Amino acid sequence: VTKAVILVGGPSRGTRFRPLSLDVPKPLFEVAGHSIIWHCLKAVSKVPELKEVILIGYYDENVFRDFIKDSSREFPQIKIQYLREYQALGTAGGLYHFRDAILKGKPDRFFVLNSDVCCSFPLEAMLKLFEEKDAEAVILGTRVSNDAASNFGCIVSDAHSKRVLHYVEKPESHISSLINCGVYLFATECIFPSIRSAIKRKTERPRMISYPSSENLDTSYVADPEEDGEKNEVLRLEQDILSDLADSNRFFVHETKDFWRQIKTAGSAVPANALYLAKAFQSQSPEIATPSANIVPPVFIHPTATVDPTAKLGPNVSVGPKAIIGAGARVKEAIVLEEAEIKHDACVLYAIIGWNSRVGAWARVEGTPTPVTSHTTSIIKNGVKVQSITILGKECGVGDEVRVQNCICLPYKELKRDVSNEVIM
Ligand code: GDD
Ligand code: GTP
Repeated sequence: VTKAVILVGGPSRGTRFRPLSLDVPKPLFEVAGHSIIWHCLKAVSKVPELKEVILIGYYDENVFRDFIKDSSREFPQIKIQYLREYQALGTAGGLYHFRDAILKGKPDRFFVLNSDVCCSFPLEAMLKLFEEKDAEAVILGTRVSNDAASNFGCIVSDAHSKRVLHYVEKPESHISSLINCGVYLFATECIFPSIRSAIKRKTERPRMISYPSSENLDTSYVADPEEDGEKNEVLRLEQDILSDLADSNRFFVHETKDFWRQIKTAGSAVPANALYLAKAFQSQSPEIATPSANIVPPVFIHPTATVDPTAKLGPNVSVGPKAIIGAGARVKEAIVLEEAEIKHDACVLYAIIGWNSRVGAWARVEGTPTPVTSHTTSIIKNGVKVQSITILGKECGVGDEVRVQNCICLPYKELKRDVSNEVIM
């Protein structure tokens, strides 16, 4: 039996995803026509023996209700539930807190997915490696540039055996360009004892500091860390657990050559949208709009959207429900959200147009392209760091013929004059 846990975080997270996360919890933001977590769930649903998915987070109980209802219909073979942490417990704290639910049905292993990554989730390849090596844990890794690597968890591995030799979370100096993708497969019988010993270490350490001269420190007294209150329930997989697992000799890495991106900033939704659209196009998904003179694939158009036949869309464009795109408009590398309207002859490039926003006739809303391999969505322009993607929050208005360039615009703003390289609050 195999299960999957998706870590969805909570309302105090996703701050870098503003202004979009002001109106929708980040995991439910739609790229390529589906919410970010739907893409995780879709991948999980392809693992044949997988029957149960647990979302763990600290959003309100009702946040994922509709998503779970719809997904249960779409993936009837999978039981999906949401378990809510009473506070942010960290990436391992939640797993431990809900261990009874995870252990129910005696799964011998389970996947853990960070919800804020965009990738092809090669879960079957991870399972294969797990079985081949009789592993305790398998982590998904990918190569990034040396400069980018220290923003992630870094893995030093033995290229031949694929064994993880060292793991360091966001190291200060360069140790490896192979990084943690935020996707794991754990043996149930190993991960919980590892977390338990991490808790024990944490509980003991402060005592040792408080009573440095105590000669007869009775460690058996702290043997049950759960008695020790809430603080110690906060545990991070990356800092508290993974580096220890590396000592076990049964921790392996599957390096993916396929696409991978983190979804942190609101702007990073644009590359995620492009990558998932490309994947859907390659697999000939019927959701992708038929290419034509004015549709440069891949493009997703919601069935309830209205697109004028003289507008040119794509590549890498998603148009949400009830959105309207006028005659002669040009939209490229962009996400147009529900009920947004783009008037005739306007141009939207490298941008996200928020729910119910309006872009006037002959207006331009544009960002700047970043290299395809880049793992950041900010660029240096005239010596200042600005967002490469222009984002209009919910219900913004851009006047006719107004040009908005490399800006982030908070909800409900009216832009009547040209703006560039600004955060409009
Ligand atoms: N349930 C729950 N509770 N989820 C959480 C919590 C928590 O307290 N804290 C974080 N998460 C979820 C987030 O929503 C996200 O999906 C995931 O756990 C990781 O988030 P962060 O803790 O912010 O870590 P990070 O994204 O900076 O780095 C992690 O992911 C990188 C890949 O994207 C690390 O695992 C890195 O090593 C890794 O490279
Ligand atoms: P291609 O022509 O598709 O090869 O685009 P490009 O990469 O050469 O140009 P760019 O990325 O700057 O612009 C993308 C598209 O938007 C081009 O087809 C331009 O013709 C079109 N475009 C640029 N500015 C405007 C505008 O103000 N209004 C309209 N309607 N289209 C524009």
